[in-house]
Amino acid sequence: MDKQPVNIHESRILITGAAGFIGYYLTKRILTEFPDATVTGIDNMNDYYDPALKEWRLEDLCRIAGQPAPAGAVSDRAADAAVEEGLSRSSRFTFVRGSIADKEIVNDIFTDLKPQIVVNLAAQAGVRYSIENPDAYVESNLIGFYNILEACRHDEALEHLVYASSSSVYGGNKKVPFSTDDNVDHPVSLYAATKKSNELLAHCYSKLYNIPSTGLRFFTVYGPAGRPDMAYFSFTKKLVAGQNIDIFNFGNCKRDFTYVDDIVEGVLRVMGKAPAKACGEDGLPVPPYAVYNIGGGRPENLMDFVHILGKELIRAGVLPQDFDIDEHLNLVPMQPGDVPVTYADSEGLARDYGFTPGIDLRTGLSRFAEWYAEYYSIV
Ligand SMILES: NC(=O)c1ccc[n+]([C@@H]2O[C@H](COP(=O)([O-])OP(=O)(O)OC[C@H]3O[C@@H](n4cnc5c(N)ncnc54)[C@H](O)[C@@H]3O)[C@@H](O)[C@H]2O)c1
Repeated sequence: MDKQPVNIHESRILITGAAGFIGYYLTKRILTEFPDATVTGIDNMNDYYDPALKEWRLEDLCRIAGQPAPAGAVSDRAADAAVEEGLSRSSRFTFVRGSIADKEIVNDIFTDLKPQIVVNLAAQAGVRYSIENPDAYVESNLIGFYNILEACRHDEALEHLVYASSSSVYGGNKKVPFSTDDNVDHPVSLYAATKKSNELLAHCYSKLYNIPSTGLRFFTVYGPAGRPDMAYFSFTKKLVAGQNIDIFNFGNCKRDFTYVDDIVEGVLRVMGKAPAKACGEDGLPVPPYAVYNIGGGRPENLMDFVHILGKELIRAGVLPQDFDIDEHLNLVPMQPGDVPVTYADSEGLARDYGFTPGIDLRTGLSRFAEWYAEYYSIV
C-alpha cells in the first residue's frame, strides 16, 4: 500500500500510556528530537505494577520538557480537571492523569488538542494476568480503544493513528517466523483476543471513516525502566532476593526479544508515513490500514536468555561475583495462555520503512542491569 508522509515536526501528538514503559521512551525521544512537536500524554497510572516506576518515568519526562514535576493529583472526570497542575496547555508536554475508558476525558482531549498523530499504547498488558482479571482487559483494551477510534473519527486534523498490537495474536502458531500474512484467529489468552480485536476495529474504522491506521505487533520488549511483570525484570528481583525462578515449559521456550530503543525507532518511522487514502473501483475508500511486526527476528532460547541475564547482572554488580544461577532455576510445566515460541518476520517493516531492529540481547540486558543497579541503589 502507498504511504502518505506525516510531518512529526510541528505536529500535535497524543500518546496514550505515556507513563508506561514504551510510552515513556517514545515520549522522551519526541521531546528530545522534535522540539517543535507538542505531546499530550494520558495514563491512568494504575497499579498493575509498581506505580512509583510510572511516576519516576513521568518526572523524567517533565524534566526533559523543562517543566515542573507533576503534582500527582488524581483526576476528576473532565480532562480540564485532569491536566496535571503545573503544566500549562501551551507547554510542549501536557500530561493527563485519566483513563482512555472514560469517553468524556478522551473527547475533551481531542476537542482541545485536535491531534494530528495518535499513538495508542495504553492497555492492560500481560498474558497471565488476563486469566484472572479479564475486566481490566475489556475496559482498557476494548472500551478504551473504541473511545480512541471514535474520537479519531471526529478529529478532522488526524493524519495517522498508530496503535500497539502484540505478537500474542499469533497464539500457538507453529509456522515460524510469524508473518502478518499468517492466520491469527486462534488467540490463546484474553489479552491476545483484545489485541486482535483492536486490529479488527481499526480496520473497520479505516474502511468506514477513511482513518489512516497502522497496527504494530510488538515482540517481547525489554530494557531499562521496563515492566516489572516481565520475566527479565521479575527474575532479577527474585534472584536479588535469593529466591529461585520458575523456568516454564522446562526451558523449552523461545522468545524474540526486542530492545525498547528498536521499538521506538520503529514506531517513529511508522508515525512518519501513514497508509495513503485511495478509492477503490466502487468509489468507496480502500481502507488506509496496515499491520506490521516489530521484532528482533532472533528468537532466544529461554535457558540461554537466563544465563546471559545472570552474567550481565553479575557484571553490573546486581548479583555477587560468585553467584551460580543454575542453583536458582525451577524447571516447571507450561502455563495457561503461554506460547512456546515467538519469532518475528519483520520484512514488511524493512520494506516499507527501511528499518530492522538490531540491538542484540546481551547489549540490551547489560543496559537493563546497569539501570537496575542504579534505580535500586545496589552499587
Ligand atoms: N512490552 C511488551 O513486551 C509488549 C509486547 C507486545 C505489545 N505490547 C503493547 O504495547 C503497549 C505498551 O506496553 P508497555 O510494555 O509499555 O506496557 P505498560 O503497562 O508499561 O504501559 C501501558 C500504560 O498504559 C497505562 N494504562 C493502562 N490502561 C489505561 C487506561 N485505561 N487509560 C490510560 N492509561 C492506561 C498503564 O498505566 C501503563 O502505564 C501496550 O498496548 C502493550 O499491550 C507490549
